[in-house]
Amino acid sequence: MKENIQTKICHQTQFAPFEDIAGASHFPIYNTATFDLKKQKGEKIYDYTRSDNPTRETLENLFSFVENGAGAVCTHTGIAAVSLLFETVLKANSSILVEADCYGGTFRLLKVFKEKYNIQVNFADFNDTDMVEHILKTNNIDLVLCESPTNPGLKIIDLKLIASISHKYNALFAVDNSLATFISQKPLDLGADFSLFSTTKYISGHGGVIAGAIVAKTKELANQIHYYANAHGRSQNPFDVYLISLGIPTLKIRMKEHEANSIEIAKFLQNQDYIVKVTHPGLENHPQHALAKSQMKYMTGVFCADFTSVELAERFIENSKIFGEKCSFGSADSRVEIPAKISHASFSKEELKAIGISDSTVRFSIGLEEVEDLIEDIKQAVK
Ligand SMILES: Cc1ncc(COP(=O)(O)O)c(C=O)c1O
Repeated sequence: MKENIQTKICHQTQFAPFEDIAGASHFPIYNTATFDLKKQKGEKIYDYTRSDNPTRETLENLFSFVENGAGAVCTHTGIAAVSLLFETVLKANSSILVEADCYGGTFRLLKVFKEKYNIQVNFADFNDTDMVEHILKTNNIDLVLCESPTNPGLKIIDLKLIASISHKYNALFAVDNSLATFISQKPLDLGADFSLFSTTKYISGHGGVIAGAIVAKTKELANQIHYYANAHGRSQNPFDVYLISLGIPTLKIRMKEHEANSIEIAKFLQNQDYIVKVTHPGLENHPQHALAKSQMKYMTGVFCADFTSVELAERFIENSKIFGEKCSFGSADSRVEIPAKISHASFSKEELKAIGISDSTVRFSIGLEEVEDLIEDIKQAVK
């Protein structure tokens, strides 16, 4: 019988590499650095947790299954998944093409790769596909990378189209799926070679752990990420794997709620005179709303609102009683931040302006509270 993903992820033990003799309803945590080679009876040999661990392998099998991949690696942070992608695909003097609207940590990492390994970093607006094609045609690009939706600009990228242009010029295509998650969007089915994500966000769902993962489409690429994860020590520790796994069965119901709550608040905000613009892919006035609906099952709970002034944006954050001023997103608690000040402080003012972000842009991550309370809090905070 073919089961739906939601059914499968409620029974995570079936992704374990071998059966637990006690029939535990959750897969065991093998909190060990080493394994005794003499005592192993299975086909697969475990020697050292940096290379392989049955707990981590369970979550890797699950991620590979839900993303329709050929193998996965769970990493110690989300940015470690991005690093691992670069460490796997790029060589000294390689070229990469990245959507200009990307997470500040990815932007900073690209600077590091550029300065230390002479990686040629090209940025483009991926909705300008003529420009994307031009860069691919005129440069020897090894890797194309984007988020969709993007953080912080909430742009939607046509993943199928970018995959086909990338492959036309023999470049690998990777998608950071952190804002959508596998329950909503399947980059590999749309043609990507890698889907990676920070599991710190929606997948863990409760803001209690930092982690990430990368899934490869082919066995060959999966073997490569596994090899470099061991070489660079990128793998996640078993206890954090366990913490991440706890959020997975409720991901779907949480994403539905994040989507509904955030759209309601975005709609409220766009009718307020202290707001200039609200950018949420779930709103009909979003320029890629139709594409978002065709590519994603649920929207994200993250959106941006441009206040009429920096002072007002800061006053709102200062006076709010419910919204914490916190980076990151995807938790049960609603939070806000000014990307220019926190998550995207590694961008210059000009670079932020080019992706539509100003000092008065506030990024909201809407949680699972009652919407009514959140709206009341916004009303009192801006008074
Ligand atoms: C889109 C995106 N990718 C990757 C990361 C990095 O993840 P982590 O903070 O878990 O290292 C983040 C963090 O905010 C992010 O927003």
